[in-house]
Amino acid sequence: MKPMNVGLLGIGTVGGGTWTVLTRNQEEITRRAGRPICITAVADRDLERARQLTGGQATVTDDAFALVKDPAIDIVVELIGGYTTAKDLVMMAIENGKHVVTANKALLAVHGNEIFAAAQRKGVMVAFEAAVAGGIPIIKALREGLSANRIQWLAGIINGTTNFILSEMRDKGLAFADVLKEAQRLGYAEADPTFDIEGIDAAHKATLMASIAFGIPVQFDKAYIEGITQLQAMDIRYAEQLGYRIKLLGIAKRKINGVELRVHPTLIPAKRLIANVEGAMNAVLVWGDAVGATLYYGKGAGAEPTASAVIADLVDVTRLHTADPQNRVPHLAFQADQLTDLPVLPIEEVETAYYLRMRAADKPGVLADITRILADSAISIDALLQREPEEGEEQTDIVLLTHVAREKAVNAAMAAIEALDTVHGKVTRIRLEELNG
Ligand code: HSE
Repeated sequence: MKPMNVGLLGIGTVGGGTWTVLTRNQEEITRRAGRPICITAVADRDLERARQLTGGQATVTDDAFALVKDPAIDIVVELIGGYTTAKDLVMMAIENGKHVVTANKALLAVHGNEIFAAAQRKGVMVAFEAAVAGGIPIIKALREGLSANRIQWLAGIINGTTNFILSEMRDKGLAFADVLKEAQRLGYAEADPTFDIEGIDAAHKATLMASIAFGIPVQFDKAYIEGITQLQAMDIRYAEQLGYRIKLLGIAKRKINGVELRVHPTLIPAKRLIANVEGAMNAVLVWGDAVGATLYYGKGAGAEPTASAVIADLVDVTRLHTADPQNRVPHLAFQADQLTDLPVLPIEEVETAYYLRMRAADKPGVLADITRILADSAISIDALLQREPEEGEEQTDIVLLTHVAREKAVNAAMAAIEALDTVHGKVTRIRLEELNG
C-alpha cells in the first residue's frame, strides 16, 4: 500500500529520536499501521545535521513553509516548539489539508481552541500525545481508555526537571538554587529553566489534560501557577517528619461549580505510589467514577521516549486517515459541539488542605492565639509540629496541617496570624492533597 509521507519540522533531540525509532522499528510499525510510514522530507535550520541524520533517505530543506505546502506530504510533525512560527506552520499545514502531529504543549495550551477548530473545518487530525508526559500514553488513556468514566480528578508529576530538583533537595538536604545549578551542569535543566521551575510547562500539560478529562475548551490563562523557586529545604524536612513528600503537581478537579486547574508544590502522603516517583520521571494519577484510581508512570522527556509518543500518533493518524472525519476520535475527547463552559475556578475558591509554617515566639499563649484565629475561620487542624528550640533560642517553627478549607479563608487566617506580635515574618503555605478519592 502507498506509504504515508511525513514531513518533519525540526530534527533536534525528539526529531532525531523519531527518525531513529521509525527506521529501527519500521517493519513492526508497518504491520501495526497497515502501511509504511516514511519521513520523506525534513525541515531544519541546521541543514548539515539534518543531512547527516537522514543520510540521503529524505529531502532536506531549511524552508519549513515550503514543506507544509508540499502536496506530497500527508502528515506534518511539528517539533520546533514555541508559539509563533510553530503556530503559523501548524495553521498552514492544516489549511493545506495535512494532518499534524505535535509535541508542542505551549502552543496547544494557549492556541489549541483555534487550532482544533481549524482542523475540524478542514477534516484533518491534530495529534499531541507527545505534548504531555513524554512517552506515557496519558492522552490516549484519558481520551479513549477511560471514556466510560466521569473523571473526577487527576494529579500529575508532569515536569521531570522540577521532580529531579525536588528529589535531590530531599535526598541531599540541599537548597533549591544549589540543586538547580547542579541540574544545569548535568544537562537536566535548560540554560533558561523558567518554564520548568516556575510551573509553566506543567501548567501547559495540566491544561490539556483538564480539557480532555472534563470536556472543556483549553484555558491556560485561567490556570493557577506556582513553581518551586520559593520552596525551602526545611519544608521538605518538616513534611517528611509529618509523613508527606513535596511534589510539583498539576491538578485538575471537577467541582459542582467549576473546575480547579492548578500547578503548585504539594504535600502528598509518602505512602502513595506517586509520592515515590523520583528523579526526572513523570506520573499521572487519574480518578474515574467507575475505575477508581489509575496511575501512569514513565519517562516524561528524552529523545526516544518522546519519539515513542510521536510515532504512536503517526500510527493512529495513518489508521484513521481514510475514516470519515465525523467518526474519528475528537481532539478533546468529547465531540467538538459537546464541550461545556464549566468555569475554571479562581484560586480563592479552591478547596484543599494546607501546610502552614510560621516562626513564633516560644512562650505561653502563642499557639493558643494561632489556633484561635484558625478556629474563628472554621479551619480545622489535622496535625501540629513544633520544633524543639535550640539552646537559648526564643523563637521556634510551628508547623500546622489543616483539614480541607477554602483558600479564601486560609488567606484571611494567614494575614491575621502574620499580624500577631508573637509571629515573625510571613507564614509559609503549601497546599496538601491526600489523593485518596
Ligand atoms: N522540560 C520538560 C520536563 C520536558 O522537564 O519535564 C518537556 O516537556
